[in-house]
Amino acid sequence: MYRDRGCGEITEADIGKNMTLSGWVFRWRDHGGLIFIDLRDRSGIIQVVFSPDVSAQAHEAAHALRSEYVIKVRGEVRQRPEGTENPDIPTGNIEVYAESLEVLSKADTLPFMLEESHEVSEALRLKYRYLDLRRPEMLRNITVRHRVTKLIRDYLDEKGFLEIETPMLTKSTPEGARDYLVPSRVNPGHFYALPQSPQLFKQILMISGIERYFQIVKCFRDEDLRADRQPEFTQVDMEMSFVEVDDVLDVVEGMLSHLFKEVLDVEIKLPIERLSYREAMERFGTDKPDLRFGLELKEMADLARAGSFKVFLSALESGGRVKAICGKGLAGLSRKEIDLLTEEAQSYGAKGLAWIKVKDGFESPIVKFFPEGVLKEMAERLDAEQGDMMLFVADSEDVVLDVLGRLRLSIAKRQNLIKDGYRFCWIVDYPLLEWDEDEERFQAMHHPFTSPTDEDVERMLNEDINDKKGLSSLRAKAYDIVLNGYEIGGGSIRIHRPDVQRKMFELLRISDEEAQQKFGFLLDALRFGAPPHGGIALGLDRLVMLMVGAESIRDVIAFPKTQKAVCLLSGAPSQVDSKQLKELHIKLDIVE
Ligand code: AMO
Ligand code: AMP
Repeated sequence: MYRDRGCGEITEADIGKNMTLSGWVFRWRDHGGLIFIDLRDRSGIIQVVFSPDVSAQAHEAAHALRSEYVIKVRGEVRQRPEGTENPDIPTGNIEVYAESLEVLSKADTLPFMLEESHEVSEALRLKYRYLDLRRPEMLRNITVRHRVTKLIRDYLDEKGFLEIETPMLTKSTPEGARDYLVPSRVNPGHFYALPQSPQLFKQILMISGIERYFQIVKCFRDEDLRADRQPEFTQVDMEMSFVEVDDVLDVVEGMLSHLFKEVLDVEIKLPIERLSYREAMERFGTDKPDLRFGLELKEMADLARAGSFKVFLSALESGGRVKAICGKGLAGLSRKEIDLLTEEAQSYGAKGLAWIKVKDGFESPIVKFFPEGVLKEMAERLDAEQGDMMLFVADSEDVVLDVLGRLRLSIAKRQNLIKDGYRFCWIVDYPLLEWDEDEERFQAMHHPFTSPTDEDVERMLNEDINDKKGLSSLRAKAYDIVLNGYEIGGGSIRIHRPDVQRKMFELLRISDEEAQQKFGFLLDALRFGAPPHGGIALGLDRLVMLMVGAESIRDVIAFPKTQKAVCLLSGAPSQVDSKQLKELHIKLDIVE
């Protein structure tokens, strides 16, 4: 018998009882006469005291204990003497006086102290992930993740969704990243792709009459990694038949508000506000706006025209834009600090950053180009007050929005303007297509299975494939959900008509042949009675990251990979022996 109960489950009601406990030695202190250890297991921590008066043998043996030894102790639960209580832990009023001690497993000196993990490199934490996961903070993250998936399963089950697994060894799904490929031994020269998402299968399931599907599912994307991107990550993937946009959004809102209430005791105000893509871009410079602070982008073209600053005027003349944000509290910046800010804007793609300080009056090399009244109007429009600095970017629309959107975020962080809390929003009314300068063709803004709006379907079917303006103005039944500046999900109502789907491929310049080869099974299925359907996928890792307040999704994934897609624990990816390659009919010819 290893234990009567978990360390964290002992309470004052147990005072006077004899208990057996097992766990890890978290901290230990030798106070001459007495030895104290904090014993830790998954349920929590309790203080164990070794006293020669209680058991000379156990006290003697306790001298040999070191951090992270696994031990079993038996002893009496006692009230802690007055003044020695620890209000920071639930068991802080009690302790166990050890009568016996057994070492179940010794531990080498750890590569890092669990309590100092914030000081060690993440690489070390990932290499010894099993130690890192012992930290109460990581345990909490993993536990919240479990709670979230459990609540999602129960919620969706209640709403009539069936959880159905879809293949991992499959064909390419176009979500915009590179595929991870798996060679087939029995089909020489043929490869499976790991799914970037279950998109095609979930649509097929709707055609199969499932009506409501979900899956908590791994997806694989070979793309540039960041704090919120992993090569394998988890989606809460959903699809529904006979629905419109509002039906999908309703289910997601209900599920999220249930989750936040149950896990964090936070009420989400429903309905979640909706912004059109256009409005989000104009006000925040991004389609994943952080709404926890202001500093919105404001139009400055009209006021720029009332002045004579060449940089602004020539940008407008060549069809570009001039917009500005308020640099809250930045009027005190030195020339050097302004240069750094300008360099930051340039690193985002701007040619420069024009600024006007609002002190007793306006201060900037460019104030001479504007009448006083115009400067006042600029300040008014930006809510810029004494002590602020107005920041302007003039360039093509894409650059202006992107640069100011990023500056807005960076200034809010620097000036501590981001309020606590959870601010959700839906982004709706997306364009259907997006022009790709490099490839000189349209790409699907979401993916090629996204339906145009009802008003635009006929126009799309008749659209000339070279009419760039007409095609750019087609709108989609697509939506993203954003939380605190992170895209936590995206989806759409799908195309369920074969003719519309074929036209979509045509507009994307995917030939009939290629469409048949890549998505033939979906195109075929659409011909046999496809219900109108739509759905969404939420990024589970991002959602949990935000719920626990972690900085990176790596902190909510038990075994994540590095920026270079390496698992430092197992050493994957690794070389394989030539026999394995031969069986797979593969000959390596590595080009650097
Ligand atoms: P999408 O590509 O927008 O949509 O993905 C849905 C959500 O998954 C999360 N996500 C990621 N999380 C971590 N690491 C990544 N590399 C990563 N990539 C995406 C994001 C994103 O919002 N099949 C469609 C959904 C649909 O149309 O129903 C899809 O996959 O939070
Ligand atoms: P210049 O006329 O190049 O000396 O620039 C005058 C000011 O305008 C400097 O503060 C530049 O950083 C800024 N500036 C230059 N190009 C742009 C631009 N495209 N948008 C906004 N400000 C700019």
